[in-house]
Amino acid sequence: MALEPVELYRDEQHACLMFTDLVEEDAQAVQANQFLIVDHGTGAIIDPGGNLAFNELYMGMVRYFSPHKLSYLIASHADPDIIASLDRWLTSTRASLVISRVWERFVPHFTKVGKTENRVIPVHDAGGILPLGQSQLHILPAHFLHAEGNFHFYDPISRILFTGDLGVSMTDGYIARTPVTDLAPHIARMEGFHRRYMVSNKVLRLWVAMARQLDISLIAPQHGAPIMGPAIAQFFDWLDHLMCGIDVMDNQNYQLPKQMISAVPQRPQ
Ligand SMILES: [Fe+2]
Ligand SMILES: [Fe+2]
Repeated sequence: MALEPVELYRDEQHACLMFTDLVEEDAQAVQANQFLIVDHGTGAIIDPGGNLAFNELYMGMVRYFSPHKLSYLIASHADPDIIASLDRWLTSTRASLVISRVWERFVPHFTKVGKTENRVIPVHDAGGILPLGQSQLHILPAHFLHAEGNFHFYDPISRILFTGDLGVSMTDGYIARTPVTDLAPHIARMEGFHRRYMVSNKVLRLWVAMARQLDISLIAPQHGAPIMGPAIAQFFDWLDHLMCGIDVMDNQNYQLPKQMISAVPQRPQ
C-alpha cells in the first residue's frame, strides 16, 4: 500500500503533490518521485516515471481530477525512470508530452507506432512559459544536468523549483517525504551521484547563476528529499564548487579494459 502523496503546496485553486514511494520498496529500481500540479482543475504531471509507477500514480491522480483534465506530461529529460510509462499515459489520457526538442524524435520508441502523433510539444533549448489552467509553468534550461536536452520547472504560485536529477539523493520513499533544511549532513547521499551523472562544473555554475534569480520556497528533485530553507543557498554554494563529470575524468578513465566481467547477473548496488 503506497503512502499518501506529500502536499507540497495547496490553496483553493492550486496544489502541488509529491509521490515518493510508488515503486515497491524491494524492487531493483531506484526510488523516484513523481509530481502532480493542479491549477483550477487542470493538471500536469512532472516526470511521470516508468511502468512501475503508472498504476498508483494514475489512481492517485483521479482522486483530484478526471483523466481528461490532465493537460501535460512534462519530462525533464528522456530517461526510463522519467518517461518509460509514456505509452500508457498517452493511451489513458489526452495529455500532451512536453519535452526537449532534442528528444522529440527519440520518445516514439517508448510507444506503439503512431501514439505520439500530435501529442508532443517540443521545447527549444531556451525553454519558455507554458500555460497551465489559469496559471503558468516556467520551463528553464538545465542542459547537461544531466541530459543533453534537459529542463527544470518553476511554479510561480508555490515557488517550487522542480529539478529532475539535479539535487537528488539516494534514499527510500519514506525519508524522501521530509525536506532537508541543512545541507551538510545530506551531502553524503548526493555527492557520488552528482560527481558521476552531472556533466561539468562550468554547467553547474551557469545554472546556479540563473537559479539564484528565482524566489524559491522549495527545490524538488526526482529522487530523494526536497531541499528547503537555508539548505537552498547551501545547495547553490555546493554546486558552485563541485567538480564532476568531465572535470574529474582523465586518461586513467579511458584505458583499454583488462578485467573480466562476471557473466552472472548481479543485484544492483
Ligand atoms: Fe536521468
Ligand atoms: Fe532520475
